[in-house]
This record gives sequence, structure tokens and C-alpha cells, in this order.
Amino acid sequence: MHSEGAFPTVRLRRLRYLPAMRRLVRQVHLRAEQMILPVFVRPGRGVKKEIPSMPGHWQLSPDLAAQEVREAARLGLGGVLLFGIPEQKDPEGREALRPDGVIPQAIRAAKDAAPEVLVITDLCFCEYTSHGHCGPICQRAGRTDVDNDTTLQLLGQQAVVHAQAGADLVAPSGMMDGMVGAIRKALDAAGFEHVPILSYAAKYASAFYGPFREAAESAPQFGDRRSYQMDPASRTEAALREIQLDLAEGADMVMVKPALAYLDVIREVRCRWPEIPLAAYNVSGEYSMVKAASERGWLDEKQIALEILTAIGRAGADIIITYWAKQAAGWLAEAKP
Ligand code: PBG
Repeated sequence: MHSEGAFPTVRLRRLRYLPAMRRLVRQVHLRAEQMILPVFVRPGRGVKKEIPSMPGHWQLSPDLAAQEVREAARLGLGGVLLFGIPEQKDPEGREALRPDGVIPQAIRAAKDAAPEVLVITDLCFCEYTSHGHCGPICQRAGRTDVDNDTTLQLLGQQAVVHAQAGADLVAPSGMMDGMVGAIRKALDAAGFEHVPILSYAAKYASAFYGPFREAAESAPQFGDRRSYQMDPASRTEAALREIQLDLAEGADMVMVKPALAYLDVIREVRCRWPEIPLAAYNVSGEYSMVKAASERGWLDEKQIALEILTAIGRAGADIIITYWAKQAAGWLAEAKP
């Protein structure tokens, strides 16, 4: 008898010859319904403005954003994630709280177009503030800083405005301490106990957000986001602590962001909380670098994108927010290799 693992009794290649056999023994089966499509919305009608650093994505007015939502329905995507680019920016980001603002308009248009598509809204102020930080700024102990506790109040109001317009799920992305608890309290007080929260719980201060900041016109005008987003070199356990706190404050789902350079974090979170729906954000820089290389003919976009999405799924994410959502749905519907 050969012992387990001894050649030639054990030939691992046996399961790799036939496409059907390879499919049979797979762990990861990507599905369109786990993919969330980010959509950038700006005011107006019939507006479709190119985003040079993100080929295949545009800033769309609510009417055209609604067409994207219809397309998401046709493709069977898991939902859309809306980001707003307002008409007016000011130091407090007041436009973000208007019930007739660009996001409430887009939510209503989306619900008219395809009510079955899950509408998720990003809760943050960086697109709305003139300085580009994720909340109003204050001076404290000689330091210029985002005013954490004032931002909590505003986030609560923003969440209610979105819920009133019909948002199915709200996703706070500002990494303010206490944001999930404050939003939960505000939603509950306004009668929206049924609206869940997807927290951007472990969000790193990442250079991979570069193209997004062009897309959302949200680059900080001074300083950076390192006093609120996590340090990429921090302990993995620091991410677990962020997640634990958000769950304690009432987060229904949690997110790790970015995805590709943080697969270890996704894995750790999955192992520690197998029962919690886990999202990963395959961010703008991860998309744009593949787009740029494939435009030069250096990489095969489809193969690379599917490999990246597979890796994110294998690490343990249930839900993947990705700029490839529409394309991926098309690729997955084709014959599988
Ligand atoms: C807003 C926000 C950002 C992203 C999602 N929500 C940018 C940032 O934190 O600067 C990045 C998404 C991406 O890069 O695709 N706070």
C-alpha cells in the first residue's frame, strides 16, 4: 500500500483534465447576484459625463442612473451603490441633507425604474464638503480635524433622508467613531427600524481610491484621511476590533475595503464571524490599473477581473462591490472554461 500522498497512486492532476470535473470540485462560484454596481450620480437630466480614469463609468443624472438600475435588474446583479456629486459644495456639506438632493432623486428614479433592485446608498460627506473631508472641520488642540461627533448627527440625518426616499440599505463610509450607533438610533427614531446598515467597518487609508476621488470629485483639499481611515500597516486585529465595535453598535453587514491588497483581512473577518454577511469593495484603483494595462494589451481584462473577483470570493467575501459588476455578469453567463 502506498501511503496517502505517495506518487503514483495519488495523482492530483486527475481532477484537472475535464472542464466539467474542474467545475465540480470548485469552491468559489461567482454569481451576478453577489455583485454590487457603484453608480455616480450628478444633478440634471440626460447628463452623461465621462470619468477619464475609470473607463466604462460615468457621472450620470438621475434619469440615466435609473437606466443603469434597469440594466442591473436585467443582469441579475445584487444591487447598486449610489454616490452623489452635488451642485453646491460648502464646508458642512449641507446639500447632502436635502430631501430633494441628487441622491434622493436617484433613489426615487431607481425605484420607479426597477423596484426589485436593491438600492444601497453611501453615507458620507466628502463629496459634499468644499474641503473634501468626510465631515465638517474643527480646530481642536491646535489641530485641524474632522469633527467626529458633529458628523455623527449629520450622518443620522443623511441616513433618514435616504431612507425616506426609499433606500433599502445604507452604507456609512466615513470611519467616524460611533457612526453605526448614531445612524441606527436616528433611523429607529424616524421609524426606519427595518432599514439595515452595511458598515464600511475596516476601511484603510488607501492610494487605491485615487480614481474614485476623480469620479466623485471628493479629493481632500488639504491633508489626508489618515486620522480616520485605518493605517495599512496596522495589526490585522485592529481591523477585527473595528468590526467588533460596529457589530456591537448594530451593523447588519460589514465591509473590508479595499479588497485586493487586504485579502488577509477579509479572511480573518470571515473566520472570526462566519455568521455575518461580509462585503468587500474592489475599489477604483484595482479596476483602473487593470483597465489601463488591458488597454495597452498587457493583460487580458476578462481573465484578470474574474481571477481577482474569484480571489476576493475565496478569501471569504459574500458580497463584492465592483466596477466590473455588469461585465462580470455577462462573462459569468457565457460558457464557463
Ligand atoms: C467616501 C468613499 C470613498 C470610496 C468609497 N466611499 C473614497 C475615500 O474614502 O476617499 C472609495 C471607493 C473606490 O475607490 O472605489 N468616503
